[in-house]
Amino acid sequence: MSKDDLVERARQAALQAYAPYSRFSVGCAIESVDGEIAVGANMENACYRLGICAEIAALTAAQQAFGLDRIARIAVAGGHVGPDGALAGAAAVTPCGGCRQAILEAAHVAGRDLEVASANGDGSEREVRRISELIPWGFGPESLKDAG
Ligand code: THU
Repeated sequence: MSKDDLVERARQAALQAYAPYSRFSVGCAIESVDGEIAVGANMENACYRLGICAEIAALTAAQQAFGLDRIARIAVAGGHVGPDGALAGAAAVTPCGGCRQAILEAAHVAGRDLEVASANGDGSEREVRRISELIPWGFGPESLKDAG
């Protein structure tokens, strides 16, 4: 699948978000080394702090579908659902700090410096960064080597 197609899958996934409180829908699509796709979207809760991000939902789906070790690439897109039912919005969505940490863990398992594509709602703005750029000097599994 091309980078653009993976972004489109993330935009589509965002349409299945449950985001009545923020009205900010985020979708995430994860591609395996064999071209399989797992998706997720944010899911909010009346107890606000219990909401989960699209990236966490997609990583969980990816673990079930093909395993974190087989993740090749990730795409994230977000914005609001417009009157025509399509995702809209001007600014590209990059993963929040917590999601960067979760992607860093997946990158460790995969043994790859994972590529993360970020897109805005209408898909017109796209940028690609490696997880090592998104969370430089991060705390990962290897940071626990001095544990007792
Ligand atoms: N959100 C995500 O799903 N992923 C991110 O990386 C950033 C934020 C969600 C959480 C919440 O439901 C909404 O976007 C507004 O913060």
